[in-house]
Amino acid sequence: MKITVLGTGYVGLSTGVCLSQIGHHVTCMDIMEQKIEQLRKGISPIYEPGLEQLLATNMAAGRLHFTTSLSKALAAETEIIVIAVGTPQGDDGAADLSYLVQAAKDISPYLSPQTIIVIKSTVPVGTNDFIGKLIEDHCGFKVKMVSNPEFLRQGSAIEDTMKADRIIIGSEDVEAAGKIHEMYRPLNVPVLLTSTKSAEMIKYASNAFLATKISYINEIANLCEAVGADVTDVARGMGKDKRIGEAFLNAGIGYGGSCFPKDVKALLHTAGVNGVNFPLLQETIAINEYQRELLVTKALKRFGGLKGKKIAMLGLAFKPETDDMREAPSIPIAHGLTKLGANVIAYDPVATQNARRIIGETIKYAGSIDEAVFEADAVLIVTEWNEIKNIDVAEMAGKMKEPIIFDGRNCLPEEKIRNCVSVEYYPIGKPPIII
Ligand SMILES: NC(=O)c1ccc[n+]([C@@H]2O[C@H](COP(=O)([O-])OP(=O)(O)OC[C@H]3O[C@@H](n4cnc5c(N)ncnc54)[C@H](O)[C@@H]3O)[C@@H](O)[C@H]2O)c1
Repeated sequence: MKITVLGTGYVGLSTGVCLSQIGHHVTCMDIMEQKIEQLRKGISPIYEPGLEQLLATNMAAGRLHFTTSLSKALAAETEIIVIAVGTPQGDDGAADLSYLVQAAKDISPYLSPQTIIVIKSTVPVGTNDFIGKLIEDHCGFKVKMVSNPEFLRQGSAIEDTMKADRIIIGSEDVEAAGKIHEMYRPLNVPVLLTSTKSAEMIKYASNAFLATKISYINEIANLCEAVGADVTDVARGMGKDKRIGEAFLNAGIGYGGSCFPKDVKALLHTAGVNGVNFPLLQETIAINEYQRELLVTKALKRFGGLKGKKIAMLGLAFKPETDDMREAPSIPIAHGLTKLGANVIAYDPVATQNARRIIGETIKYAGSIDEAVFEADAVLIVTEWNEIKNIDVAEMAGKMKEPIIFDGRNCLPEEKIRNCVSVEYYPIGKPPIII
């Protein structure tokens, strides 16, 4: 099939590359010249394992093209347009649909009544209908709209796309839904056909549920600390129950990233405008806000004051295997520490450049773990990169001024802590280890 993907971010690029990998002819279009220039050279503008390899293979096979020109992207024979532009959080908590609206207006002159428009961006219930009408007003005929929300996780976007748990196809147009089903058939993954509104809701309901699961285990962790239980054991015990499941029960410093924070707020907004009270989501958000500050609170409690203390932050990205800094817990942690007068030095294997743009020069950035922890008064583990999980803790403790570690991800193995000659180790939701 001939497919055009609008937006070459984490979702659009991964989708475009994977659709070409299963044999479709894909043109990816973005308004950012720099991204497209890089992509044309086979360089991915985002860090995503496995992406560049597929990029090279499919470009070489002539199935994958990049352009900033809509007229080229939508040249004759484009059967399907997949829209994957950003839908960031607006000022009132609602999803900001301005990129989507612009994209819809931009494509209108190039459409035919047969073109299928797939909205992959995460959008509030009713958006597909609204965009469909907007396009109809511009081009004078009804278009085929399909809601196809995306569930990939950054850091494993390719694997998640190629081996998705499910694909949701929501449309009132049976023929269009069938065609999108056909487009995905080579992936051989379960497909659920729903109404447009249900498809839109499935995405928000899923993300809000996962965020709530995280906030729930974090609140249990705080309670475990108060009563002397170990949240890792508690989560393991809970997770063995098939009704609960093991995923998303890792206590830590809260959720971040480009999706959960904004999607939970957008769902809360949708509930509000429809007159539905949803206090559970308010609590999910409040717990997360508290949790994001937890390492600062713990450090402050341990030292009494942080003025002049050298604090090493290990990890900046909102999670491992991505360079994405959007809503990363490292941001409030860095700001909280510097506000209290700490000298912060941070290390991340890939997100430093993005972090500089967001956190700025109020903290220092190290080129290695060794450089960050040298003579530090404390280490804060913020992102559980493999490189950080695999640290020789005893060796690291020996380089620090004081061997005090706050593990925001509970990612350092206990035996490595117990191997230290001297250490103070503070995990989340379990008793500290002090040697
Ligand atoms: N990132 C994720 O893990 C993830 C997962 C599932 C769903 N989503 C959803 O998918 C959507 C995209 O997310 P993302 O993380 O890929 O965003 P992103 O910000 O990484 O990328 C969006 C891209 O769209 C481009 N763009 C904006 N307007 C355009 C236009 N008119 N024409 C062509 N390109 C345009 C931007 O330049 C940018 O490159 C969002 O709605 C998001 O909520 C994201």
